[in-house]
Amino acid sequence: MTKGSFLTFEGIDGSGKSTQARRLAERLRAGGREVVLTREPGGSPGAEEIRRLLVEGSADRWSPETEILLFTAARRDHLEKTILPALERGAVVISDRFADSTRIYQGATRGELRTVVDQLHALMIGREPDLTLILDMDPALALSRGLARESGEDRFESMGQDFQDQLRTGFIQLARRFPLRCRMIDGNRDPDIVADEIMAVVERALR
Ligand code: TMP
Repeated sequence: MTKGSFLTFEGIDGSGKSTQARRLAERLRAGGREVVLTREPGGSPGAEEIRRLLVEGSADRWSPETEILLFTAARRDHLEKTILPALERGAVVISDRFADSTRIYQGATRGELRTVVDQLHALMIGREPDLTLILDMDPALALSRGLARESGEDRFESMGQDFQDQLRTGFIQLARRFPLRCRMIDGNRDPDIVADEIMAVVERALR
């Protein structure tokens, strides 16, 4: 077992999770904790290179199977190079997305691949977060916010509203599948109120 704590943020595109992850990191640092704020896909030099392959380009650039392999390769590098060393030091690791994103984006939206996602996770990753904050958000609003950013990283957003609706349902089911580590947070509220609720949940978990 490692000494640190592993927290993840999950949610559909444009749900506000990246902002909330950053705010949580700032608050925990202000309280004197060592925090490593990281993200997926990415979070290590090698995984950031793989990120570009995944989030840019046309929606049909990769088959679903190839996509799962690329996400898993990126995650394995992230785990080896960034997450596990930080947890060994006793840091709080906050990752903006982790394996649950693959369970939902690649597994839940393409039912036949669910088992492949779970098998690959067990073989190559085998680590779950201590706490997962799922930001729940109206898909129509979230999608308009995500696309408005025009980040050039909208391969998944370009899959449209139906896809985002499926994702939201997937995240709700995920919280039921892993009730001990998952907390649903209503992201349709003022960001300050959302940040306060998240801080309260995390303080209880870190005690
Ligand atoms: P981001 O916008 O949160 O940085 O994530 C990039 C995109 O990659 C986002 O649309 C979700 C998608 N994604 C997956 O499809 N599967 C995964 O395992 C991860 C980590 C992200």
